[in-house]
Amino acid sequence: MSTATPTAEAPATAPGTAPATRGLVEITKVRKSFGATEVLKGVSLTVEPGGVAVIVGPSGSGKSTLLRTINHLEKVDGGFISIDGKLVGYEVRGERLHELREKDILKQRTGIGMVFQNFNLFPHLTALENVAEAPVVAQGRSKDEARRRGLELLDRVGLRDRADAYPRQLSGGQQQRVAIARALALDPKILLFDEPTSALDPELVNEVLDVIRELAKSGTTLIIVTHEMGFARDVADTVVFMDQGQIVEQGSPQEIFTNPQEPRTRSFFSKVLEPAFNI
Ligand SMILES: Nc1ncnc2c1ncn2[C@@H]1O[C@H](COP(=O)(O)OP(=O)(O)OP(=O)(O)O)[C@@H](O)[C@H]1O
Ligand SMILES: [Mg+2]
Repeated sequence: MSTATPTAEAPATAPGTAPATRGLVEITKVRKSFGATEVLKGVSLTVEPGGVAVIVGPSGSGKSTLLRTINHLEKVDGGFISIDGKLVGYEVRGERLHELREKDILKQRTGIGMVFQNFNLFPHLTALENVAEAPVVAQGRSKDEARRRGLELLDRVGLRDRADAYPRQLSGGQQQRVAIARALALDPKILLFDEPTSALDPELVNEVLDVIRELAKSGTTLIIVTHEMGFARDVADTVVFMDQGQIVEQGSPQEIFTNPQEPRTRSFFSKVLEPAFNI
């Protein structure tokens, strides 16, 4: 028996009726408040399977909160999110949504990797152990298999030769690449990045962005919050501009960077883009 309480009206279309796809993210009219402050004011966004959406916007506009609702690290107060037609964090019973049990939420989360600004590696585990831990614990894979796959993933991010290093022995850029390998270890359909390079020294930013560029070609759906506008222009299918808890405008990099329609978008880019920034 679930201990969940009813929270919201069920969506109009029954989950599970969507065609079989991998990594389709549908965010519908999501609302979220902290106390009296509403930080997401009815946000809707669709990211197609294999798509790359880059979210930009001023500090405090709700970017991290939105990202965290996608893997149910934040509960929504209204609206809903589905992945491949399946609700995130909730199930429909009768006419209402009920929150899933913790066990089911954790299971759902294994399909959604998240990479944070500050890497969040386990300091007492080596690079390889950091990468190989979750597949054993969360998916019941054998230690040998997880280690073999862990080495492949470290190879993919250019760090096979540092497999036995502890996080303190690695640069920030290397730690973030280990964190990306760790997120990949559970074969996620979707990867969420929250300012993955903003804690790095400038000379280490590109090695991490290059790894993400490679991932963007791999068919995994990526949703990336970043202040790196050049990177956003290169990698995004869709650039999403958020301000004050709302999506103000979204479109191709070409549309959003060179011909923004909304005054708020124009004003933001006039402050953050170099004068020579050309699409
Ligand atoms: N756990 C929380 N409790 C209370 N308020 C919060 C909490 N998390 C976020 N907020 C508030 O919600 C608003 C949106 O925060 P959020 O972190 O999503 O913004 P952001 O766009 O990611 O900003 P930044 O670019 O600075 O990372 C801010 O006003 C923030 O202070
Ligand atoms: Mg943030």
